[in-house]
Amino acid sequence: MFNLFPRSKWLREEQDFSARMSALGPARIFVTGVTGFVGGAVAAALVGTPHFKQMLFLVRAKSAAEGAQRVRQSIARFSLSEMPPHVSESQVVVGDLNDPQAFLDARLDQVSHVIHGAAITSLANRQDIWAVNVDATLRLAQRFSGVSSLQRFVYVGAAMACGVARGPLVTEALRLPVERAHLAPYTASKACAENQLRERFPDLPLVAVRPSMVIGHSWLGCKPSARNFWVLKVISELNRFVCPPSAYLDIVPVDYCARIIVELTLKKSLSFSAYHVSAGQQSSTMVVELLQAFQGLGGKGKVQAYMRVAEADLMNMALSLGERHVAQQKAGEASHYEPFNARLLCKALRLYGRFSRLNYVFDQQRVLGEGLQPAPSFLDYINLCDHSIRNLSLKSQMACGF
Ligand SMILES: NC(=O)c1ccc[n+]([C@@H]2O[C@H](COP(=O)([O-])OP(=O)(O)OC[C@H]3O[C@@H](n4cnc5c(N)ncnc54)[C@H](OP(=O)(O)O)[C@@H]3O)[C@@H](O)[C@H]2O)c1
Repeated sequence: MFNLFPRSKWLREEQDFSARMSALGPARIFVTGVTGFVGGAVAAALVGTPHFKQMLFLVRAKSAAEGAQRVRQSIARFSLSEMPPHVSESQVVVGDLNDPQAFLDARLDQVSHVIHGAAITSLANRQDIWAVNVDATLRLAQRFSGVSSLQRFVYVGAAMACGVARGPLVTEALRLPVERAHLAPYTASKACAENQLRERFPDLPLVAVRPSMVIGHSWLGCKPSARNFWVLKVISELNRFVCPPSAYLDIVPVDYCARIIVELTLKKSLSFSAYHVSAGQQSSTMVVELLQAFQGLGGKGKVQAYMRVAEADLMNMALSLGERHVAQQKAGEASHYEPFNARLLCKALRLYGRFSRLNYVFDQQRVLGEGLQPAPSFLDYINLCDHSIRNLSLKSQMACGF
C-alpha cells in the first residue's frame, strides 16, 4: 500500500535537477510567495544549488529574523527531515506586496531573475484580491522594469485563467479573457494581471508559467499541505458529484510544478512567453479512475456505481456526510472526527464541481518541447497523499486553503 518507488525515483530526479541547475551561470533570484505552497516548493527545489545562498525572499513579517524563520519553516515542509536549511536575515526583504515601500530596497537592483508567486489564491469573493493580484503585481513589474541586471521575470499565473468554454484541450493563448468568462474572481484577477503585464511592460523579460491544479507532493503526499486533496477525498466518499465520470482532472504535484518553474526561470533561452505546467494529455486523470483508486485504497470490494447529481443536491449531500461521520465516530470507526461546516463544504463542492465540469486538459507540449520532464500521473502518488492525511479530521483538512 505504501509505495516507496516514487520516492527513490523522484529523489534521483531531484539530484539530477540540482546538478543541472548548479551548472547554469550565477543567478540572484527574488521570490515572492515563499511562505505559500508553490513558492515554498520553489525555494526547496533550489536548496541544493549554489543559487540558494544568493536568493532573496519577500516575506510578510515584523522583522527580518521572523521573516527568515517563516522562510525556513516553509521550506522544511518539503523534506522528510524537518531540518530547516540555513536562511540568513540578509536574504529577507520584509514587506507586503500592497506596500510600495517594500520595493524600494536597494538589494532588488542586483536581481537577475524574479519568480512572482505571491497571490491571494482564495476562490471566495475577497475584497483584496484585485489589489494584491493585479495592482501590486503591476507595481512589482514597474519596479523591475528599471533593473538592468534582470534576465527574466517569471509570473506564476494559473492555467484556469483561460476562463470558461476553452476546452477540452486548452492551449496557451497569449491574451486571456477577463469579462464574464470566469467561475471565480481569483481566476479573473490572474488573467487580468497577466494581460496587463504584457500590455504595460512590453520590454519586461516576462514569462508566464501557468500551473493547472497543484495537489500533494510526489513522494511526501500531503505532508506539505492537504490543499485541494480533501475535496477529491470527499467526492470519493460520497461517490456522487456534478460532473460525468469521464471528466478529466489535470493535476500536478507541487514538487514537479516547482521544478518546472525553476527550469523555465533559469533556462538560457525559451521558445515562448507562456507555458502550462500541467499533466496534459499524457497524465490527466479521469474522475472514474480517481474513484477507483480511492476505492482500492479503502480496501472496499464492489461498491455502488458513481452517480451524477445536480448542483442543488450538494447541500443535502454535505449534511448527510456530516451525519455519517458522527455515526462512524459513535461506532468507533473514525477516531479523528470534528464537526465541520456543511455550508462551507457545500460551497467548496459547488465551486470545484463547476471547474470539473469544464473538463479541461491543459496542453503540455510547450514544456515537453523545452526538453523538460512530463508530469507524473496523480494516480502514481494518490496513495501517499491519502496515507499522509490519515490522522487529520476533515475539518483540519478543510482549513488547508478554502
Ligand atoms: N496551488 C495551486 O493549485 C495553483 C494552481 C495554479 C496557479 N497557482 C498560482 O501559484 C501561485 C502560488 O500559489 P499557492 O498555492 O502557493 O498559494 P498560497 O499557498 O496561498 O500562498 C500564497 C503566498 O502569497 C503570499 N501573499 C499573499 N498576499 C500577500 C501580500 N499582500 N504580500 C506579500 N505576500 C503575499 C502569502 O504570504 P503569507 O504567508 O504572508 O500569507 C503566501 O506566501 C499563485 O500565484 C497562484 O495563483 C496555484
